[in-house]
Amino acid sequence: VFPGMQAASKEVAKRIDILIRQKAAEGKNAVLGLATGATPIMLYDELVRLHKEEGLSFKNVVIFNLDEYFPIEASSAQSYKVFMQKHLFDHVDININNVLIPDGMIRKEDVALFSIGYEAKIIASGGLDLQILGIGRTGHIGFNEPGSAPNSGTRLVSLDELTRSDAARDFGGKANVPLKAITMGIGTILAARKIILMAWSEKKAEIVKKAIEGEISAEIPATYLQLSNSVEFVLDNDAASLLT
Ligand code: F6R
Repeated sequence: VFPGMQAASKEVAKRIDILIRQKAAEGKNAVLGLATGATPIMLYDELVRLHKEEGLSFKNVVIFNLDEYFPIEASSAQSYKVFMQKHLFDHVDININNVLIPDGMIRKEDVALFSIGYEAKIIASGGLDLQILGIGRTGHIGFNEPGSAPNSGTRLVSLDELTRSDAARDFGGKANVPLKAITMGIGTILAARKIILMAWSEKKAEIVKKAIEGEISAEIPATYLQLSNSVEFVLDNDAASLLT
């Protein structure tokens, strides 16, 4: 628990910096699972600073993003692809061929094959060294909404009404928020060698308490993280304020 999201984001960035440099020294890639949304913006700002000012190179980094709206044009202002370009990829020396984000424009009948391929690519890359997560007010991680199974893989899902309401501002009204998304599954996330969930502000306090202290259940998918031996919650004081 940190006094604020800036200190917390810097700490997570430092861990990523160490991981990337360690892997580079071994001649290996660092395989990162990344999230979008408001929560990781400061983390990405700090990673960009580390690249520009402290020589952190992303040449040996492979990134798998957690999720993408469906359907959505890759070039749309609300797509997670554009989000990642704006906050990270455009500012660091990553090889763009090493960046994978679910394809929000794929034909619906091709999503299952695409999803199996996404899982296969994660495995072929050696598996996720580190998965970064935010948490939605429904308890979703990625877009694994209530009802998700603990062994779920990458797949097409329907977004919860609360999640669509929370996204309404970005889309200029709830009616414009896609009904679906492609997301890595709970099983995909739990297979990561290390998981860090970040959450800031009192808006997240209630769901953080349920995720950490509540009974493991499909109603709050983030409770599945209790099954992992390698998960850490990085919180600010406000997000941690309801913990026992
Ligand atoms: C985004 C994602 C979501 C968000 C969550 C919190 O890639 O997977 O689970 O992390 O909806 O969003 P923010 O950070 O905007 O509160």
